[in-house]
Amino acid sequence: MVAALRKVNCAIDSLFVIGIHTLSSSIQSNRSSTPSLAELIVSVKKTLPMVSDTAGRLNLSQLKSFLGPAFKGLILQTSRGAASTTMKTAHDVHFDWTYERENTSMTKLYNAALSSQWNAIDLDWSAEVDPLSISRPIIPDAYCPGIVLPQWALLSDKEKAKHRQALLSWMLSQILHGEQGALYGACQVVQAVPWLDGKLFGSTQVLDEGRHVEVFHRYLSEKLGRKYEINENLYVLSEFLVNDSRWDVKFLGMQIMIEGFGLGAFTMIQNIVDEPLLKNLLKLIIADEARHVHYGMLALQNFYRTELSEKELREREDLAFEISLLLQRRFLAHEIYDEYWGNYLSLKQWDKFVQESQLMRIFRKSMFRLVIPHLKKLGLLSARIQPRYRELGLLDYLDGKTVYEMSEQELLSPVGN
Ligand SMILES: [Fe+2]
Ligand SMILES: [Fe+2]
Repeated sequence: MVAALRKVNCAIDSLFVIGIHTLSSSIQSNRSSTPSLAELIVSVKKTLPMVSDTAGRLNLSQLKSFLGPAFKGLILQTSRGAASTTMKTAHDVHFDWTYERENTSMTKLYNAALSSQWNAIDLDWSAEVDPLSISRPIIPDAYCPGIVLPQWALLSDKEKAKHRQALLSWMLSQILHGEQGALYGACQVVQAVPWLDGKLFGSTQVLDEGRHVEVFHRYLSEKLGRKYEINENLYVLSEFLVNDSRWDVKFLGMQIMIEGFGLGAFTMIQNIVDEPLLKNLLKLIIADEARHVHYGMLALQNFYRTELSEKELREREDLAFEISLLLQRRFLAHEIYDEYWGNYLSLKQWDKFVQESQLMRIFRKSMFRLVIPHLKKLGLLSARIQPRYRELGLLDYLDGKTVYEMSEQELLSPVGN
């Protein structure tokens, strides 16, 4: 077993080395510039320990599905500087000629979605937003990761305001890129899911996600005036889910994990931001996202209980753990490190420091509060995997409520430190 894992790690190492020499030319069409050898070496150094770590945990077929996106996203950094990216899909499109409607819970959710639609133009976009305000900080300084560094005290009020603007723009940019992934994920799910009730609800989610892309992009461009590129970990996950042919894996990754984490991030930002327009639009989006997570649960619960073998279920369990790690890593704010703190501390020091920051503590709680209870209900938190989550301090909400069991007030309430 140990020898096999060593072989896998060696194979990955060789693949990366070969890839650096052969694949850099293949990305010219997507990126605005080809990465230099120096850039590639930096990417490899930065990400290889993480990828090798993942390799040690996954079986060969899981590894194969992760490797392509990981290589493109983490090593070649395909999305950096690119105006667009093309990804391959492999799922079946399932037509239903019976048009039978058998799932009453999903019909109920579909009707609720139809009567809860809203239009972004009804929000008050004329509201003045000053992301650089000194007298009324858009988010509290306490959430800026740099606040505990000695250099923070040396910053002027104007510079601190720039850090706040950067952090909020960075968080909302990642959310925007996640929303674009959710839009395409929802389109794929509509095609791939076998039941008509699932397709009909999915069609409402397509509209919801389109609206979310619209509002986040508009807020970033009109109100914050800054936008960041997609974080590499989110890129890997998006491409992995677009590529994977299994409808239930798309549901698990998109509806339960990304949507659950997104919901956690929205509730957290909704609680800390001091700006009415953003608070209002997040409240509307949170209601949409809660429906999407519940849709994922309705689609998967019975399927996982009755249709999958024990081996297939454990494979989904491993995937859910890897997705959790990728989603957690996307909040290490490497883009903020590169922009402001790269001269003061190493990336390794930064990662440790951000993991322990107030921002990350609250993020972790907000996100895993809404993911762990769902994984448990789906049978994806067996005694075999629990120690891995516990080791990362992510099992606090093992007996928590699902989104469906929460009231609106519970969902919107802050999680505390
Ligand atoms: Fe969304
Ligand atoms: Fe969603």
